[in-house]
Amino acid sequence: MAKRLIVGIAGASGVIYGVRMLEVLKNRGIETHLIISEAGKINIRIETDYDVDDVLAMADVTYNNKDIVASVASGSFLTMGMVVAPCTVKTLSGIANSYNENLLIRAADVQLKEKRKVALLFRETPLHTGHLRLLTQAADMGAHIIPPVPAFYHHPKTIDDIINQSVGKVLDYMGIEHDLFKRWDNSELDKRMNQTTTSKNEKIQNEKVVAMK
Ligand SMILES: Cc1cc2nc3c(=O)[nH]c(=O)nc-3n(C[C@H](O)[C@H](O)[C@H](O)COP(=O)(O)O)c2cc1C
Repeated sequence: MAKRLIVGIAGASGVIYGVRMLEVLKNRGIETHLIISEAGKINIRIETDYDVDDVLAMADVTYNNKDIVASVASGSFLTMGMVVAPCTVKTLSGIANSYNENLLIRAADVQLKEKRKVALLFRETPLHTGHLRLLTQAADMGAHIIPPVPAFYHHPKTIDDIINQSVGKVLDYMGIEHDLFKRWDNSELDKRMNQTTTSKNEKIQNEKVVAMK
């Protein structure tokens, strides 16, 4: 299978996920093909310190979202699949309904029809039942819904740690090796639980001592 990955950046909050994906994929022997929606470009300016041109320069190949004759609009162009990071309600709706009004949505639709991997880092909150139905529809068609929801068991210290965890989950799904986050290791669990219990017990003991005084 061709080592080409399509990356779509739509205009949801969290465009940094798509940017980080491109940064991580550099020098990993994977050819990145990037499509940024107009709203995605606006949000790169709003939410990050990157210029849109800097982000475009991170990819091996870039496309205009209106370019419906681009290579990635055809199933004959072989890829590993596509990541939409982040994915808006609008883009999710386009994908779930095969309403291929732009290249980003068309490329995702093509990956699904070819039974390739499609990861949607869908971001919106709260969700009404219309959103939930669209998510189910896209999942039924083969998309993998990977909302960028942070985990805390790896004890993130920075925003970067949180971003890397979500990006790492997508790379796991795509079968791309990485060391972006510390994986769950239950061998440390006993130590941590004992520590927590001990400190709780100590606190209770101290409170008793204070109360007795
Ligand atoms: C700062 C900002 C944050 C936004 N965050 C979200 C979001 O988290 N989820 C979402 O679905 N739309 C969000 N939007 C709205 C989308 O950008 C808008 O619906 C746009 O038309 C989506 O177009 P696209 O899917 O082609 O990128 C946001 C817009 C702005 C300006």
